Amino acid sequence: MKAVRIHGYGGIDALCYEEAPRPKPGEDEVLIRVFASSVNPFDCAVRAGYMNSYFNYILPLILGTDVSGVIEEVGANVTDLKPGDEVYTRVGVWRDGAYAEYAVAPAADVAYKPKTIDHFHAAALPHVTLTAWQALVEIANVAPGQKVLVHAAAGGVGHIAVQLSKIRGATTVGTASVNIETLKELDVDETIDYSTTNFEDEVKDVDVVLDLIGGDTQQRSWAIMRPGGILISTIQAPSEETAAAHGMRQNFITTAPPVKRVLTEVANLVDTGQLKSIISAILPLSEIQKAHEMVEGKHVHGKVVLSVADF
Ligand SMILES: NC(=O)c1ccc[n+]([C@@H]2O[C@H](COP(=O)([O-])OP(=O)(O)OC[C@H]3O[C@@H](n4cnc5c(N)ncnc54)[C@H](OP(=O)(O)O)[C@@H]3O)[C@@H](O)[C@H]2O)c1
Repeated sequence: MKAVRIHGYGGIDALCYEEAPRPKPGEDEVLIRVFASSVNPFDCAVRAGYMNSYFNYILPLILGTDVSGVIEEVGANVTDLKPGDEVYTRVGVWRDGAYAEYAVAPAADVAYKPKTIDHFHAAALPHVTLTAWQALVEIANVAPGQKVLVHAAAGGVGHIAVQLSKIRGATTVGTASVNIETLKELDVDETIDYSTTNFEDEVKDVDVVLDLIGGDTQQRSWAIMRPGGILISTIQAPSEETAAAHGMRQNFITTAPPVKRVLTEVANLVDTGQLKSIISAILPLSEIQKAHEMVEGKHVHGKVVLSVADF
Protein backbone atom coordinates (compact mmCIF):
# COMPACT_ATOMS: atom_id res chain seq x y z
CA MET A 1 0.00 0.00 0.00
CA LYS A 2 0.99 3.65 -0.32
CA ALA A 3 1.93 5.31 2.98
CA VAL A 4 3.90 8.21 4.40
CA ARG A 5 6.69 6.96 6.65
CA ILE A 6 9.68 8.43 8.42
CA HIS A 7 12.91 6.45 8.56
CA GLY A 8 14.58 9.05 10.81
CA TYR A 9 13.57 12.23 12.62
CA GLY A 10 13.88 15.64 10.99
CA GLY A 11 12.25 18.33 8.86
CA ILE A 12 9.69 17.84 6.11
CA ASP A 13 12.28 16.00 4.01
CA ALA A 14 11.99 13.12 6.49
CA LEU A 15 8.46 12.43 5.18
CA CYS A 16 8.61 9.63 2.56
CA TYR A 17 5.59 8.84 0.40
CA GLU A 18 6.34 5.22 -0.51
CA GLU A 19 5.23 1.58 -0.58
CA ALA A 20 4.80 -0.01 2.86
CA PRO A 21 3.45 -3.41 4.00
CA ARG A 22 -0.32 -3.49 4.54
CA PRO A 23 -0.95 -4.01 8.29
CA LYS A 24 -2.95 -6.91 9.73
CA PRO A 25 -5.50 -6.43 12.53
CA GLY A 26 -5.02 -8.31 15.80
CA GLU A 27 -7.87 -10.24 17.48
CA ASP A 28 -9.37 -7.10 19.07
CA GLU A 29 -8.58 -4.75 16.20
CA VAL A 30 -10.01 -3.68 12.87
CA LEU A 31 -8.35 -2.85 9.55
CA ILE A 32 -9.68 0.43 8.15
CA ARG A 33 -9.49 1.34 4.46
CA VAL A 34 -8.51 4.99 4.85
CA PHE A 35 -10.31 7.59 2.73
CA ALA A 36 -9.01 10.66 4.55
CA SER A 37 -6.68 11.70 7.34
CA SER A 38 -5.68 15.13 8.66
CA VAL A 39 -2.54 16.81 9.92
CA ASN A 40 -2.06 17.79 13.56
CA PRO A 41 0.89 19.66 15.11
CA PHE A 42 1.40 16.39 17.05
CA ASP A 43 2.34 14.64 13.75
CA CYS A 44 4.93 17.34 13.05
CA ALA A 45 6.33 16.90 16.57
CA VAL A 46 6.61 13.11 16.06
CA ARG A 47 8.36 13.69 12.72
CA ALA A 48 10.83 16.09 14.34
CA GLY A 49 11.64 13.56 17.10
CA TYR A 50 10.16 15.61 19.96
CA MET A 51 7.79 12.83 21.07
CA ASN A 52 10.33 10.00 20.84
CA SER A 53 11.13 9.95 24.57
CA TYR A 54 7.42 9.60 25.44
CA PHE A 55 6.45 6.88 22.99
CA ASN A 56 9.59 4.91 22.05
CA TYR A 57 8.69 4.67 18.38
CA ILE A 58 10.03 1.91 16.15
CA LEU A 59 11.22 3.19 12.74
CA PRO A 60 10.20 3.22 9.97
CA LEU A 61 6.96 4.72 11.30
CA ILE A 62 3.73 5.63 9.52
CA LEU A 63 2.61 9.02 10.87
CA GLY A 64 -0.92 10.32 11.33
CA THR A 65 -3.56 10.04 14.04
CA ASP A 66 -6.85 10.94 12.33
CA VAL A 67 -8.75 8.54 10.12
CA SER A 68 -12.08 8.33 8.35
CA GLY A 69 -12.86 5.36 6.13
CA VAL A 70 -14.55 1.96 5.96
CA ILE A 71 -13.89 -1.26 7.82
CA GLU A 72 -12.02 -3.68 5.54
CA GLU A 73 -11.49 -6.56 7.98
CA VAL A 74 -12.17 -7.30 11.65
CA GLY A 75 -10.19 -9.35 14.18
CA ALA A 76 -11.51 -12.67 15.58
CA ASN A 77 -12.93 -11.11 18.77
CA VAL A 78 -14.64 -8.13 17.14
CA THR A 79 -18.43 -8.47 17.04
CA ASP A 80 -19.75 -4.89 16.96
CA LEU A 81 -18.19 -3.77 13.66
CA LYS A 82 -18.22 -5.37 10.21
CA PRO A 83 -16.64 -4.85 6.79
CA GLY A 84 -18.23 -1.92 4.98
CA ASP A 85 -19.09 0.09 8.12
CA GLU A 86 -18.20 3.77 7.73
CA VAL A 87 -16.08 4.75 10.75
CA TYR A 88 -13.74 7.38 12.13
CA THR A 89 -11.25 7.35 14.98
CA ARG A 90 -7.88 8.38 16.32
CA VAL A 91 -5.07 5.87 15.73
CA GLY A 92 -1.35 5.58 15.91
CA VAL A 93 -0.38 7.85 18.81
CA TRP A 94 2.31 5.35 19.79
CA ARG A 95 2.60 3.18 16.66
CA ASP A 96 1.92 3.12 12.89
CA GLY A 97 -0.87 5.55 12.03
CA ALA A 98 -3.22 6.79 9.36
CA TYR A 99 -1.14 8.47 6.63
CA ALA A 100 -1.71 5.28 4.60
CA GLU A 101 -4.21 3.40 2.49
CA TYR A 102 -4.91 1.03 5.39
CA ALA A 103 -4.64 1.54 9.16
CA VAL A 104 -5.22 -0.70 12.17
CA ALA A 105 -7.16 0.50 15.22
CA PRO A 106 -8.42 -1.14 18.43
CA ALA A 107 -12.11 -1.91 17.83
CA ALA A 108 -12.82 -0.41 21.26
CA ASP A 109 -11.78 3.02 19.92
CA VAL A 110 -13.68 3.00 16.62
CA ALA A 111 -16.91 5.01 16.24
CA TYR A 112 -19.41 5.25 13.41
CA LYS A 113 -18.65 8.27 11.25
CA PRO A 114 -21.17 11.16 11.34
CA LYS A 115 -23.70 10.42 8.59
CA THR A 116 -24.23 13.99 7.37
CA ILE A 117 -20.63 14.87 6.46
CA ASP A 118 -18.07 13.44 4.04
CA HIS A 119 -14.87 11.61 4.97
CA PHE A 120 -12.79 14.80 4.65
CA HIS A 121 -14.82 16.60 7.30
CA ALA A 122 -14.92 13.48 9.51
CA ALA A 123 -11.13 13.05 9.32
CA ALA A 124 -10.73 16.64 10.51
CA LEU A 125 -12.41 15.82 13.82
CA PRO A 126 -10.88 13.08 16.02
CA HIS A 127 -7.62 14.42 17.49
CA VAL A 128 -8.73 18.03 17.95
CA THR A 129 -12.21 17.15 19.16
CA LEU A 130 -10.95 14.66 21.75
CA THR A 131 -8.55 17.34 23.01
CA ALA A 132 -11.17 20.11 23.21
CA TRP A 133 -13.64 17.69 24.84
CA GLN A 134 -11.09 16.58 27.43
CA ALA A 135 -10.42 20.21 28.33
CA LEU A 136 -13.87 21.77 28.34
CA VAL A 137 -16.20 18.85 29.12
CA GLU A 138 -14.21 16.32 31.17
CA ILE A 139 -11.91 18.70 33.09
CA ALA A 140 -13.57 22.13 33.19
CA ASN A 141 -17.15 20.81 33.00
CA VAL A 142 -18.17 24.12 31.41
CA ALA A 143 -21.66 25.17 32.51
CA PRO A 144 -24.26 27.70 31.34
CA GLY A 145 -23.50 31.25 32.45
CA GLN A 146 -19.74 30.75 32.60
CA LYS A 147 -17.26 32.71 30.48
CA VAL A 148 -14.69 30.76 28.45
CA LEU A 149 -11.67 32.24 26.65
CA VAL A 150 -9.99 30.14 23.94
CA HIS A 151 -6.57 31.32 22.73
CA ALA A 152 -5.90 30.35 19.08
CA ALA A 153 -9.61 29.81 18.61
CA ALA A 154 -9.53 29.58 14.79
CA GLY A 155 -7.10 26.64 14.64
CA GLY A 156 -7.70 22.90 14.83
CA VAL A 157 -8.41 22.50 18.54
CA GLY A 158 -9.70 26.06 18.93
CA HIS A 159 -12.45 25.97 16.31
CA ILE A 160 -13.96 22.88 17.94
CA ALA A 161 -13.42 24.24 21.48
CA VAL A 162 -15.40 27.43 20.85
CA GLN A 163 -18.31 25.37 19.48
CA LEU A 164 -18.28 22.98 22.46
CA SER A 165 -18.16 25.97 24.80
CA LYS A 166 -21.25 27.46 23.17
CA ILE A 167 -23.05 24.10 23.18
CA ARG A 168 -22.44 24.01 26.97
CA GLY A 169 -24.08 27.44 27.29
CA ALA A 170 -21.00 29.53 28.07
CA THR A 171 -20.25 33.04 26.85
CA THR A 172 -17.37 32.33 24.52
CA VAL A 173 -14.43 34.58 23.69
CA GLY A 174 -11.80 33.67 21.09
CA THR A 175 -8.49 35.13 19.96
CA ALA A 176 -7.12 35.05 16.41
CA SER A 177 -5.41 37.42 13.94
CA VAL A 178 -5.56 36.73 10.19
CA ASN A 179 -8.27 34.12 10.81
CA ILE A 180 -10.61 36.32 12.84
CA GLU A 181 -13.38 35.81 10.24
CA THR A 182 -13.46 32.10 11.11
CA LEU A 183 -14.54 33.03 14.63
CA LYS A 184 -17.35 35.18 13.28
CA GLU A 185 -18.47 32.26 11.08
CA LEU A 186 -18.66 30.15 14.27
CA ASP A 187 -20.74 32.79 16.12
CA VAL A 188 -18.13 33.26 18.83
CA ASP A 189 -19.62 35.82 21.23
CA GLU A 190 -16.55 38.03 21.42
CA THR A 191 -13.49 38.02 19.17
CA ILE A 192 -10.12 39.56 19.98
CA ASP A 193 -7.42 40.21 17.39
CA TYR A 194 -4.33 39.38 19.44
CA SER A 195 -2.06 41.09 16.88
CA THR A 196 -3.60 44.52 17.52
CA THR A 197 -5.14 44.23 21.00
CA ASN A 198 -4.03 43.00 24.41
CA PHE A 199 -6.69 40.50 25.45
CA GLU A 200 -6.36 41.77 29.06
CA ASP A 201 -7.86 45.07 27.92
CA GLU A 202 -10.94 43.40 26.42
CA VAL A 203 -11.98 40.57 28.71
CA LYS A 204 -12.19 39.85 32.47
CA ASP A 205 -13.94 37.52 34.95
CA VAL A 206 -13.17 34.45 32.85
CA ASP A 207 -14.07 31.07 34.39
CA VAL A 208 -12.12 28.88 31.97
CA VAL A 209 -9.08 29.72 29.83
CA LEU A 210 -8.07 27.19 27.19
CA ASP A 211 -4.45 27.98 26.35
CA LEU A 212 -3.25 26.56 23.02
CA ILE A 213 -0.24 28.92 22.82
CA GLY A 214 1.74 28.86 26.10
CA GLY A 215 4.53 31.26 27.11
CA ASP A 216 3.60 34.89 27.58
CA THR A 217 -0.01 34.27 26.49
CA GLN A 218 -0.42 31.76 29.31
CA GLN A 219 1.27 34.01 31.89
CA ARG A 220 -0.92 37.01 31.03
CA SER A 221 -4.07 34.89 31.30
CA TRP A 222 -4.09 34.65 35.12
CA ALA A 223 -4.97 38.35 35.36
CA ILE A 224 -8.28 38.02 33.50
CA MET A 225 -9.63 35.05 35.46
CA ARG A 226 -12.26 34.92 38.16
CA PRO A 227 -11.09 33.48 41.53
CA GLY A 228 -11.63 29.73 41.44
CA GLY A 229 -11.31 29.68 37.63
CA ILE A 230 -9.30 27.09 35.74
CA LEU A 231 -6.50 27.54 33.20
CA ILE A 232 -6.06 24.50 30.97
CA SER A 233 -3.16 24.23 28.55
CA THR A 234 -2.42 21.77 25.77
CA ILE A 235 1.11 22.98 25.28
CA GLN A 236 2.82 23.96 28.53
CA ALA A 237 2.01 22.83 32.10
CA PRO A 238 0.78 25.89 34.01
CA SER A 239 2.61 26.55 37.29
CA GLU A 240 0.79 25.01 40.27
CA GLU A 241 2.33 27.67 42.54
CA THR A 242 1.11 30.55 40.37
CA ALA A 243 -2.37 29.04 40.16
CA ALA A 244 -2.51 28.64 43.95
CA ALA A 245 -1.21 32.18 44.50
CA HIS A 246 -4.07 33.52 42.32
CA GLY A 247 -6.67 31.24 43.92
CA MET A 248 -7.07 29.40 40.60
CA ARG A 249 -6.85 25.85 39.35
CA GLN A 250 -4.76 24.56 36.45
CA ASN A 251 -4.48 21.51 34.23
CA PHE A 252 -2.20 20.27 31.47
CA ILE A 253 -3.76 17.95 28.90
CA THR A 254 -1.83 14.70 28.61
CA THR A 255 -4.63 12.19 28.18
CA ALA A 256 -7.67 11.71 25.95
CA PRO A 257 -11.22 10.90 27.03
CA PRO A 258 -12.70 7.48 26.07
CA VAL A 259 -12.34 7.66 22.30
CA LYS A 260 -15.35 5.61 21.12
CA ARG A 261 -17.83 7.15 23.59
CA VAL A 262 -16.79 10.73 22.86
CA LEU A 263 -16.57 10.32 19.07
CA THR A 264 -20.05 8.76 19.13
CA GLU A 265 -21.36 11.81 21.04
CA VAL A 266 -19.49 14.09 18.63
CA ALA A 267 -21.08 12.33 15.63
CA ASN A 268 -24.47 13.00 17.19
CA LEU A 269 -23.64 16.70 17.65
CA VAL A 270 -22.52 16.89 14.02
CA ASP A 271 -25.58 15.07 12.69
CA THR A 272 -27.92 17.34 14.67
CA GLY A 273 -26.24 20.44 13.21
CA GLN A 274 -24.62 21.61 16.45
CA LEU A 275 -20.94 21.04 15.58
CA LYS A 276 -18.92 21.25 12.37
CA SER A 277 -15.33 20.89 11.24
CA ILE A 278 -13.75 23.57 9.09
CA ILE A 279 -11.19 22.64 6.42
CA SER A 280 -8.61 25.12 5.17
CA ALA A 281 -7.08 22.78 2.55
CA ILE A 282 -7.40 19.25 1.18
CA LEU A 283 -4.17 17.83 -0.21
CA PRO A 284 -3.41 14.38 -1.66
CA LEU A 285 -1.38 12.12 0.63
CA SER A 286 1.53 12.46 -1.82
CA GLU A 287 1.73 16.19 -0.94
CA ILE A 288 2.37 15.50 2.72
CA GLN A 289 5.44 17.73 2.88
CA LYS A 290 3.38 20.73 1.80
CA ALA A 291 0.66 19.80 4.31
CA HIS A 292 3.17 19.72 7.19
CA GLU A 293 4.65 23.01 6.04
CA MET A 294 1.20 24.61 6.16
CA VAL A 295 0.49 23.40 9.68
CA GLU A 296 3.95 24.40 10.92
CA GLY A 297 3.27 27.90 9.59
CA LYS A 298 0.91 28.21 12.62
CA HIS A 299 -1.79 30.20 10.81
CA VAL A 300 -4.18 27.65 9.35
CA HIS A 301 -7.87 27.95 10.16
CA GLY A 302 -9.58 24.68 11.04
CA LYS A 303 -7.76 21.67 9.61
CA VAL A 304 -5.47 20.63 6.76
CA VAL A 305 -6.95 17.37 5.47
CA LEU A 306 -5.28 14.58 3.47
CA SER A 307 -7.12 12.84 0.67
CA VAL A 308 -6.01 9.19 0.64
CA ALA A 309 -8.48 7.36 -1.65
CA ASP A 310 -11.65 8.16 -3.62
CA PHE A 311 -14.91 7.55 -1.80
N1 LIG B 1 -1.58 18.11 24.90
C1 LIG B 1 -2.31 17.57 23.95
O1 LIG B 1 -2.84 16.45 24.09
C2 LIG B 1 -2.53 18.33 22.66
C3 LIG B 1 -3.57 17.93 21.78
C4 LIG B 1 -3.79 18.70 20.64
C5 LIG B 1 -3.01 19.82 20.38
N2 LIG B 1 -2.00 20.13 21.22
C6 LIG B 1 -1.18 21.34 20.98
O2 LIG B 1 -2.05 22.47 21.04
C7 LIG B 1 -1.59 23.48 20.15
C8 LIG B 1 -2.73 23.91 19.24
O3 LIG B 1 -3.06 22.86 18.36
P1 LIG B 1 -3.95 23.15 17.08
O4 LIG B 1 -4.13 21.85 16.37
O5 LIG B 1 -5.14 23.91 17.42
O6 LIG B 1 -2.92 24.10 16.26
P2 LIG B 1 -3.16 24.88 14.90
O7 LIG B 1 -4.38 24.42 14.22
O8 LIG B 1 -1.87 24.82 14.15
O9 LIG B 1 -3.36 26.40 15.41
C9 LIG B 1 -3.37 27.39 14.42
C10 LIG B 1 -4.00 28.65 14.97
O10 LIG B 1 -3.16 29.27 15.94
C11 LIG B 1 -3.47 30.65 15.94
N3 LIG B 1 -2.37 31.38 16.53
C12 LIG B 1 -1.06 31.39 16.15
N4 LIG B 1 -0.35 32.18 16.99
C13 LIG B 1 -1.22 32.67 17.92
C14 LIG B 1 -1.11 33.55 19.05
N5 LIG B 1 0.08 34.07 19.41
N6 LIG B 1 -2.22 33.82 19.79
C15 LIG B 1 -3.41 33.30 19.45
N7 LIG B 1 -3.60 32.47 18.38
C16 LIG B 1 -2.51 32.18 17.63
C17 LIG B 1 -3.68 30.99 14.48
O11 LIG B 1 -4.61 32.06 14.39
P3 LIG B 1 -4.29 33.27 13.38
O12 LIG B 1 -3.80 32.64 12.12
O13 LIG B 1 -5.58 34.00 13.22
O14 LIG B 1 -3.20 34.08 14.05
C18 LIG B 1 -4.23 29.68 13.87
O15 LIG B 1 -5.62 29.73 13.57
C19 LIG B 1 -0.40 22.87 19.40
O16 LIG B 1 0.79 23.32 20.00
C20 LIG B 1 -0.57 21.37 19.61
O17 LIG B 1 0.67 20.70 19.54
C21 LIG B 1 -1.73 19.42 22.35
